[in-house]
Amino acid sequence: MKSLLFSFLFLFLFFLSHISASNSSIDTFLECLPSHSNPSHPISNSIYTPTNSSFLSVLQNYIRDSRFNTSTTPKPLAIVTALDVSHVQATVICAKTNGVKIRIRSGGHDFEGLSYISNVPFVILDMFNLRSIDVDIPSETAFIQAGATLGVCFTVGAGGHFSGGGYGNMLRQYGLSIDNIIDAEVIDANGRLLNRESMGEDLFWAIRGGGGASFGVILSWKINLVRVPEIVTVFNVQRTLAQGATDVVIQWQQVASTVDRKLFIRVQPETIQQGGSKTVQVTFIALYLGRASSLIPLMNKSFPLLGLQAQDCTEMPWINTTLFWNGNPTGTPLEVLLNRTSSRRPYYGKHKSDYVKTPIPRAGLETIWKKMIEVQLDNIVRMQWNPYGGRMSEIPEDATAFPQTLLILISFILKYELIELFISYQTLRFFLT
Ligand SMILES: Cc1cc2nc3c(=O)[nH]c(=O)nc-3n(C[C@H](O)[C@H](O)[C@H](O)COP(=O)(O)OP(=O)(O)OC[C@H]3O[C@@H](n4cnc5c(N)ncnc54)[C@H](O)[C@@H]3O)c2cc1C
Ligand SMILES: *[C@@H]1O[C@H](CO)[C@@H](O)[C@H](O)[C@H]1NC(C)=O
Ligand SMILES: *[C@@H]1O[C@H](CO)[C@@H](O)[C@H](O)[C@H]1NC(C)=O
Ligand SMILES: *[C@@H]1O[C@H](CO)[C@@H](O)[C@H](O)[C@H]1NC(C)=O
Ligand SMILES: *[C@@H]1O[C@H](CO)[C@@H](O)[C@H](O)[C@H]1NC(C)=O
Ligand SMILES: *[C@@H]1O[C@H](CO)[C@@H](O)[C@H](O)[C@H]1NC(C)=O
Ligand SMILES: *[C@@H]1O[C@H](CO)[C@@H](O)[C@H](O)[C@H]1NC(C)=O
Repeated sequence: MKSLLFSFLFLFLFFLSHISASNSSIDTFLECLPSHSNPSHPISNSIYTPTNSSFLSVLQNYIRDSRFNTSTTPKPLAIVTALDVSHVQATVICAKTNGVKIRIRSGGHDFEGLSYISNVPFVILDMFNLRSIDVDIPSETAFIQAGATLGVCFTVGAGGHFSGGGYGNMLRQYGLSIDNIIDAEVIDANGRLLNRESMGEDLFWAIRGGGGASFGVILSWKINLVRVPEIVTVFNVQRTLAQGATDVVIQWQQVASTVDRKLFIRVQPETIQQGGSKTVQVTFIALYLGRASSLIPLMNKSFPLLGLQAQDCTEMPWINTTLFWNGNPTGTPLEVLLNRTSSRRPYYGKHKSDYVKTPIPRAGLETIWKKMIEVQLDNIVRMQWNPYGGRMSEIPEDATAFPQTLLILISFILKYELIELFISYQTLRFFLT
């Protein structure tokens, strides 16, 4: 009992000292910044403290999940919206010397808000201004700064996406994003600017799949470009349980990771309302790096249960498929890819991923459907099952820090309106673990 009391007292004192330390350290942090940045790019233009009138909007611009957009979400003591490499270096050096925690944010799509929330006093190093993309066609390479955004979900940032692995719908042909990274610029904990050669192969290995923020600040990636045919084919077809979705999923599990690597078929089961009750509908969404005329016989031979017809297929340039995957209607101008505010609508998400190493038997699938339907209230439960295989099976397991030799990546997306609905999420846990 006594020792418990002492620990409480200790914690309390620690807490107090922490709070009072944080006030003065943020002031010295802010005072430290100009002396470590390039005078021709004044850092004062990129510092926002709670007294700046635009502090809240700068903070909220890259909060992408409304769960973390509340008045009680912990707020940073300051935000540095780096406009120059020296601003990144100054932030790292001054935070380190003053004991201030840094959160690094690129696109802000972290599923748990880790790029802009902390339980200890912190500052945000916001990378959205550093977003140039330099493409070199002769060498088929490109430099991409961390604050640039991607396709598929086009507000996801290159900083977080690439350092965490980064899968896309061409992974069966070309591997993950990180399998195509050939160099990187990183600011280390001492504020040094490093590239692949100066950081060494260990750090270069770790930042490809191990999460960037654990190791430094990623400024840019150098990537190999990959070739795509001028015209590719996509389809998006649905089957409900009543339409035999379970049998189709069983066949999909047998072929999705072994079929021609030019073909990527994602399975997306979700709950829908049908005739006053809930059921599961499975969407099969695919990208084929070729024409429909060769896709249809391939599907007929390998995956006949889906019954894919010519009218299910749409041919388009690859760039248009980014809009297709994002669910934009045909004819949407490609310029929306440049719109950084397109996902500032309310969005409440809870995501969790796992790997499936052997096909889920029919009874397992039926239990999953049952659990999805059981989730109460107006939740929409959606899963994304992404097949690997192809190029993914050839890349050695230890080539990068990402675990990548497995069969299917399942990602659960639970959309809900209120945080209280966490309870329902717990009911899903049994097949997550
Ligand atoms: C709608 C949606 C769709 C998605 N689709 C896919 C998908 O198809 N494939 C896929 O692989 N992933 C997908 N993701 C996951 C996404 O790739 C990750 O959440 C990614 O980490 C987000 O990167 P960000 O820069 O936007 O996030 P941020 O929140 O800015 O950062 C995420 C993490 O990386 C760290 N970090 C960010 N920038 C840097 C940097 N410059 N240096 C060091 N550390 C940094 C942050 O501190 C944080 O820990 C999706 C996410 C969403 C919300
Ligand atoms: C410490 O910081 C908080 C929040 O930023 C502020 O409300 C408080 O007045 C500060 N205290 C001192 C002693 O500066
Ligand atoms: C925020 O306010 C401080 C103090 O008033 C000022 O020095 C700084 O330039 C402001 N930041 C921006 C980006 O306007
Ligand atoms: C966060 O809140 C602000 C202010 O209410 C709002 O403008 C913004 O759209 C919200 N963003 C999200 C993702 O909920
Ligand atoms: C699939 O192939 C079979 C046998 O060749 C053929 O009879 C059938 O019409 C084909 N189906 C489609 C959808 O092309
Ligand atoms: C691709 O998208 C552009 C822009 O919306 C559009 O003009 C073009 O018709 C699309 N092409 C196809 C084949 O869908
Ligand atoms: C970006 O998208 C949002 C939301 O759809 C829209 O309100 C805004 O006008 C768009 N901005 C541009 C520049 O197209």
